[in-house]
Order: sequence, then structure tokens, then C-alpha cells
Amino acid sequence: MEKSRILVVDDSKFSAKMIESRLVEAGFQVDVAYSAEQAIASLSAPGSPLPDLVISDVVMPGMDGYQFCRWLRGNPATVRVPVIMLTSKGGVSAKVDGFQAGADDYLVKPVDPTELEMRIKVLLARVKALKSTAGGTAAMPTQARVISVFSLRGGVGVTSVAVNLAVALAQMWQADVPLLDLSLQSGHCALLLDLRPQHSLADLAERGPDEIDSALLEGVFVRHNSGVRVLAAPPAPELADTITTTLVDSVLTTLRPQFSYLVIDTPSRFDEVTLTALDRSDVIVLLLSPEIASLKVTTAALNVFQALEYPPQKTVAVLNWPFARGGLPQKNIEAALHMPLTAVIPHEPALFVEAINQGVPLVLRRPDAPASLALQQLAYRLSGEQPPMQKTRSPSEMLLRVQELVKRA
Ligand SMILES: Nc1ncnc2c1ncn2[C@@H]1O[C@H](COP(=O)(O)OP(=O)(O)O)[C@@H](O)[C@H]1O
Ligand SMILES: [Mg+2]
Repeated sequence: MEKSRILVVDDSKFSAKMIESRLVEAGFQVDVAYSAEQAIASLSAPGSPLPDLVISDVVMPGMDGYQFCRWLRGNPATVRVPVIMLTSKGGVSAKVDGFQAGADDYLVKPVDPTELEMRIKVLLARVKALKSTAGGTAAMPTQARVISVFSLRGGVGVTSVAVNLAVALAQMWQADVPLLDLSLQSGHCALLLDLRPQHSLADLAERGPDEIDSALLEGVFVRHNSGVRVLAAPPAPELADTITTTLVDSVLTTLRPQFSYLVIDTPSRFDEVTLTALDRSDVIVLLLSPEIASLKVTTAALNVFQALEYPPQKTVAVLNWPFARGGLPQKNIEAALHMPLTAVIPHEPALFVEAINQGVPLVLRRPDAPASLALQQLAYRLSGEQPPMQKTRSPSEMLLRVQELVKRA
């Protein structure tokens, strides 16, 4: 069996050597870096092996252990690597800081070597168990996280949010993200991206479930330079009925192992196809606007989800402001829904219309606009637990911006 690889980061040569010799003795392969900067440089070098676990000192000259841990969490390739913080800094608040920075465990020096070894083994075993329940080994890709955006009322911004979420995920994680347009009668995801689809879901209508494979889907995707690939809605409303639940099921089954994220735009009703998509989703973004009619249908949708026995954590409520003022207060909405709002997207007077007319989504066109930042943060929250499969070495500009925002919040 291959040895687990541990990266030790400590500015004290003495301490680093002590840990190294102990861990080598325990059968681990150990790399040592004497500063966070040095560790980052070697982790960023092309072709360098990734550690299975990181042990980091907290107090170091230059970048400290907390900052280093945040860097690890912000880097798609290391987002899931377990981190043990090792420090002379005792006290609860130092520990809390460590955990907030994304550490998995926290030990105060001098640490008992047997305890350190045990904690390492526990963390490594947990990661292994997680990988095997995900149905694969380290090298095998996980399944895409399927995110549907839904509302039983039209015009609240479902398509706008779905498109911007897909673009934000693609940009943030430098990943290809399929966007499935299930607004079958009047889909306009492609339009919002200024794409003129040559192909659509209707091209697949004649195919049996056995014929749907990744090569076929490759030919039907309409690509956007953000990394989003649209599976467009049929070009004419009368073709909507040719899209069956079996087809949608096969498409999702085929795409899941290939991508990290998959976003679905849905129509504002419960039909068979929509229910299939919602069933297969890991997250449903239940979108509403701050008015009584929207609130009513949102409650109705939540009741349906409950009847369908969806786990409560599958649904996140997000408030969008497609109009400027006069909306219901947020706390009344949360009280009525019996759940907190995961995000609030403010009204953006001119920018949304501008973005549509230009065919450039808000998160690309105006990344700093308040609604845009809310969408990026939502994308980040929805993706938090899921490292993309494409291993990029340095975090994207969007990711750094969102993490800065999250830190300040
Ligand atoms: N936060 C917002 N601020 C301003 N306009 C918005 C906002 N969200 C959505 N809109 C506008 O509302 C309209 C409906 O949005 P759309 O995404 O098509 O909704 P749906 O898919 O729910 O029918 C669009 O013109 C869109 O530009
Ligand atoms: Mg729509």
C-alpha cells in the first residue's frame, strides 16, 4: 500500500524535525516546509504531489497558519485535504480561529507524539471512508452537485439566478459547468449568454436512453467562454413535449460523473420533467420575491417537497428583488417560511436589463455590483463542500474576492 503523504509546515527547524522523524518512524512519507510561503510554492509547482494531510504551525513569520489554512481551503486542489494546526498558542479563541480558518483539528504544543499519530490516523481514515462512500478512490471523480433553481411563480428571477450561478461556479472554480435549460417552452438561458444554439435538448428527443452518452452530449452543448455549457431548451414551444422524464434522467446520469457542478433552470410549475429534475437535485434554490403571492407559492412548494420527503437541507430559500421597493420585510418572510433565507439578492435597477441586452451575465459584466456579489457568495456557499475535479493550482480572482467577503461578514 502506498504511504500517506504528510506535509509539515513549521518555522522552527527543531520542531519540524521532531515531527518529521516521528512520522517517518510511524510509516508516513513526510515533506517539510519552513514557512507557509515555501509550502505554497511547492504545492503550486506543476506536477508536485498533493499531501494527504497537512500539519501546520500557527505562529510563523510572514504568512501565519490561519492564512495558510485559508489558502488551502481556497485552492480547489487542496480544499479537502485535512489540516491539523499545531501551536504553542493555547486558549479557546485561538482554537476557534483555527477552526474558522478551516482546520480539522487543533493541538497545543508540546504535543504527545502518540496522540498526534492517532489524530492523523483518524483524519486519514475519515477521508478514506468519505471517498469510498462517494463510490470511488482518490483518483476517481466524484458526482456533480446538481443545483436546481425553482419557483412556482414566473418572473421572480429563476433564469437570471440559474445563469449567473452557473457562470459564477465556472469562473470561481475554473471548471466546466453544464447548464440545463428545462424551461422547455420558452427557455432563454442561451439568450442571456448571447449564444445562438445550433442544437438543443430536442435533438436528443428521438434517442433512447441507451444512446445518450457523453460523446452525444458533447455535440449538443452550446459553449460559453466562461466555462458554462448550455443544454438549450427546444427552439419552439411545440417541441417541449418531446422531452421526456426518461431523457432528462439519462442526461443527468450521463453528466454527473463528468462534472463538478450542474445547474438547472426550471419552469414555474410542477410537471413530470421538472419533478424529475428536482428529485435528482442535491440542492434546490427555492427563489422568491418579497411579495405575498410569491410567498404563498413558496410555502406551497415547500409543502410539496415535504410530501415528497425531500430532506429539509436539500432546499435553500433565496430572496430576490426584481422590483425596487415596497417588498415584505425579510423577517416576516423567514417567519412565514419557517426557515432562514440563505441569500438576499438586492434589486439592481439598470444592470440586469443591461446585462440581458448585452448578453453578458451580471457576474461577469459587473462583478462588484451588490446583486452580483450576492450571487457569487451564493455560488460559493452552494459549492463549499465540493472541490471541483479539474485541479487548478491557483485560486481564481472571483474565488479570492468571495472568500474575502465571506471573511469580512
Ligand atoms: N435582482 C434583480 N434586480 C433587477 N431586475 C431583476 C432582478 N432579478 C431579476 N430581474 C429581472 O426580472 C425579470 C425576470 O427574470 P427571469 O430571470 O426571467 O425570471 P423567471 O425565470 O423567474 O421568470 C428579468 O427582466 C430580469 O432582468
Ligand atoms: Mg425563467
